[in-house]
Amino acid sequence: MLLNASGCLDALTAPDVARGLDAFVTKTVTPEPRDGNTPVRIAETDVGMLNSIGLANPGIDRFLTRSLPALAKLGVPIWVSVGGFTADEYAEICSRLDDHAEVAAIELNVSCPNVESPTQGAMEIVASARLATRKPLWAKLSAAVPDLTEVARAAHDAGADGLALINTLRGLALDERTLQPALGPAVGGLSGPALKPVALAAVYACHRATDLPIVGMGGVQTGRDVLEFVAAGARHVALGTVLFADPDAPVRVRAELAAELSARGYADVDDAYATAHAHALSTATT
Ligand SMILES: Cc1cc2nc3c(=O)[nH]c(=O)nc-3n(C[C@H](O)[C@H](O)[C@H](O)COP(=O)(O)O)c2cc1C
Repeated sequence: MLLNASGCLDALTAPDVARGLDAFVTKTVTPEPRDGNTPVRIAETDVGMLNSIGLANPGIDRFLTRSLPALAKLGVPIWVSVGGFTADEYAEICSRLDDHAEVAAIELNVSCPNVESPTQGAMEIVASARLATRKPLWAKLSAAVPDLTEVARAAHDAGADGLALINTLRGLALDERTLQPALGPAVGGLSGPALKPVALAAVYACHRATDLPIVGMGGVQTGRDVLEFVAAGARHVALGTVLFADPDAPVRVRAELAAELSARGYADVDDAYATAHAHALSTATT
């Protein structure tokens, strides 16, 4: 399944791009509206993009009354990304989404830098959300933790149905002339090609540590990248930063993936997944 990464596509301004995906993931929604961080919020680097949007969003009330009804008309399954500052806030939003049939799944953005202990934080948030909704719950994790597999296992034990890997990594870009931070809040989240090896390692490790399905993301630009994420253990793959430069990426990436699969003799992506992981299993036991 091909998705967008949260925050990287506005489906209401680019509905045709969203319709090219198997599911649309919203930008993270928080209990209250948020204006986001001080501009400048986006900076280019040689190896990717830095952003410090700061979870700007209309808040759950307006999301439910305005955005969700419009998103539902797209005809694409909607995954709502949920954020907050306490486990109770996540649970509150999840319970409000629970009655909405048009919400196919919830992605818990537990990669928030405000969460002090990632393992404890992820466990509490997922456990609270689990009590608040029957929707499938995907825990979106950051790779910037001492032991990601420990966080993944904690999310699994707390009732997550899947993992979304990975969120951006903290980075700093300096203005060439002034040598001052290019972004308003100084540091931001690095996304794009530089993230791919980190994301692949995260998917690879979590796939072995849990039996949860994984949405892999981080620097995906081509069909070949998608195949690599599948080989590392991802069931689904999300396009993020690439969508800013190439809104046709969903169509292009699907065509490239089909060509890669047929050149390698796979019937389809499930065949590639099965083959990659049968091999991993046999080498693990020898
Ligand atoms: C401009 C921008 C906004 C983002 N907003 C969110 C967000 O609201 N919630 C979230 O979980 N991730 C957010 N992300 C992170 C992406 O969903 C994704 O995890 C990350 O960018 C890695 O994928 P990529 O390298 O393909 O972009 C954002 C990324 C960018 C570039």
